[in-house]
Amino acid sequence: MSGEKPPVEICKGVNGLDKVVLREVRGSSAEMYLYGGHVTSWRNDHGEELLFLSTKAIFKPPKAIRGGIPICFPQFGSHGNLDQHGFARNRFWSIDANPPPFPTVSTNKAFTDLIFKPSEEDLKIWPHSYEFRLRITLGPGGDLMLTSRIRNIDTKPFSFTFAYHTYLSVSDISEVRIEGLETLDYLDNLKAKERFTEQGDAITFEAEVDKIYLGTPTKIAIIDHEKKRTFVLRKDGLPDAVVWNPWEKAKSIADLGDDEYKHMLCVEPAAVEKAITLKPGEEWKGRLELSAVPSSYRSGQLDPQRVLQG
Ligand code: BG6
Repeated sequence: MSGEKPPVEICKGVNGLDKVVLREVRGSSAEMYLYGGHVTSWRNDHGEELLFLSTKAIFKPPKAIRGGIPICFPQFGSHGNLDQHGFARNRFWSIDANPPPFPTVSTNKAFTDLIFKPSEEDLKIWPHSYEFRLRITLGPGGDLMLTSRIRNIDTKPFSFTFAYHTYLSVSDISEVRIEGLETLDYLDNLKAKERFTEQGDAITFEAEVDKIYLGTPTKIAIIDHEKKRTFVLRKDGLPDAVVWNPWEKAKSIADLGDDEYKHMLCVEPAAVEKAITLKPGEEWKGRLELSAVPSSYRSGQLDPQRVLQG
């Protein structure tokens, strides 16, 4: 056993912030910061980074870390009176030493449980009591799984919107396509949230995109032609999916390099159109599972159907 790194390690990251490192025996790994309950790294067993993290990311409150998987809660975007994307992404979370059990018991050792509870200050801006538990697991095949459990411990109901703001690392945004969202309705953030219906085949990119797809399937494929890699995103409890790439607008985002938009794509499992309402004592669960698989070719063409149905 000597020399072998543990499956879960708590250590210091950028600016001395606490982070948790998960390692799976075959070599894949993930890292998350207690600041924001924020996954910042997910590597496959070749050590290749699969999430985008800006070289200009600021690891310092009150700014959320640019890249990885910020948690948008209790508000997605500007859909409410709170600051953009709520405040869970720029609060300090804790290790949850005693999480309530999950219905299915796993023998997997590479996981950690985080918890976020509102402070007195948080209660002033959003006056609802809750416990937000986040389990992050690295599966035996290197899959990354995030499960959020939000429990109302208040005496009144409350409603919230939510997103796993997932920044995927891509070789070249112009060479990427998304399968699973074609023909769906979406709200266009670039057109005052007006509702449209997607036309045509897969989603490709040649300009800024900021859309909230509604009633999306539980499985979405993001195909990176150049890397010959497909991300398969599975989700539960999250009917919507936000797709964002700022393109030239990256120049106006201080913590994003001017050209970095070429190497990122946000596909964000979300609950936006219909807020989630929890009565006192109720719990909501929202799940994201990411895997990265080699793209399959047939007659020189990618075959996303096999990915989506497989
Ligand atoms: C996306 C939104 O989820 O996040 C975009 O749809 C927004 O409208 C983007 O610009 C980034 O937000 P922020 O607050 O992290 O800069």
